[in-house]
Amino acid sequence: MELPASVQIVEVGPRDGFQIEPVFIPTEQKIRIINQLSQTGFQRIEATSFVHPKAIPQLADATEVMSGIIRVKDTTYTALVPNKKGVERALQSGVKEVNFVVSASESHNKNNVNMSTAESLQTIREAARMALDNGIKITGSIATTFGCPFEGRVSPQKVEEIAQEYLDMGVRELILADTTGMANPLQVTEMIRRLRNKFKNVEIRFHFHNTRNAGMANVLAAMLEGIAVFDGSIGGLGGCPYAPGATGNIPTEDMVHMLESMGINTGINLPKLIDCAKMVQDLLGRELPGQVMKAGPVPWAVDKQAIDKSKYLCPKNTGKVVDY
Ligand code: COA
Ligand code: ZN
Repeated sequence: MELPASVQIVEVGPRDGFQIEPVFIPTEQKIRIINQLSQTGFQRIEATSFVHPKAIPQLADATEVMSGIIRVKDTTYTALVPNKKGVERALQSGVKEVNFVVSASESHNKNNVNMSTAESLQTIREAARMALDNGIKITGSIATTFGCPFEGRVSPQKVEEIAQEYLDMGVRELILADTTGMANPLQVTEMIRRLRNKFKNVEIRFHFHNTRNAGMANVLAAMLEGIAVFDGSIGGLGGCPYAPGATGNIPTEDMVHMLESMGINTGINLPKLIDCAKMVQDLLGRELPGQVMKAGPVPWAVDKQAIDKSKYLCPKNTGKVVDY
């Protein structure tokens, strides 16, 4: 089994992280945080969402945020959208990639977007067409993939059905979201194999919340299946306001730390990222879940020369960092 030699981390803090913050974060602070994140090497940052401002008042300033940030050349600034109106607003803001969302459980979907999953998929189908016609890339999130805070177990068949719908709409990347951190590593492995069995060459990205502390174990399980794209949220911010008990995503800097210390390249400058997490913590004025910003990085996460990775990483001692 091979681990990927490099992994892409998508920073979703400015969307998933901010959306659950109870106190409005001034627009200029949001812009400052995104600008600082832009200096650390992310290929993609989910910068906001174009949803109903009454549904997520914290992100009512999506247009101002998108026009205020300094866009770095190699970074794509994505946004979550629920419908055509969201795509229209994203288009006006020069967004090049939008992320749709539907839940695998009816009750979470109803709470989140006030629709049945069938209605959501119909709405998204129209919105996806609009996005593609305008040259915008589309990704499809499946919320509550591994469990629902209202219904408990979620049927993997339902996840497959939604995946099929998304792929039919032209979605290239499926985002399996563990909205309230209910997944365990075996579920993750099983889901990847199931989807790959049904949809050859499907591109899968994971969005883990760390609600029950299994986030990093789930990342490792997914990497062992060859998955190489993961969402993280700076400092561990985040959560769905429409899911009781929701807490943050995996802290991005903790995930980057683990991967870089394993010799897996993320393309992200870890010290700058840790500085950024500290800045967010200071701005919000409360302790965030991220651990590495408190403990500090190990030397071999920062200084790539510091360890013999083959010794630490490869049980078979083949000398290849990624060969297990
Ligand atoms: N942005 C701004 N306004 C929007 C909008 C969007 N993307 N989509 C709909 N609206 C407006 C409509 O224009 C309409 O306005 P009007 O009353 O002035 O005519 C109003 O919202 C109602 O439209 P409707 O389609 O009936 O929406 P709804 O009230 O059933 O809400 C959603 C549906 C999807 C728009 C709303 O539930 C939502 O934005 N949810 C997002 C939740 C979220 O972000 N969760 C966390 C991320 S997973
Ligand atoms: Zn989330």
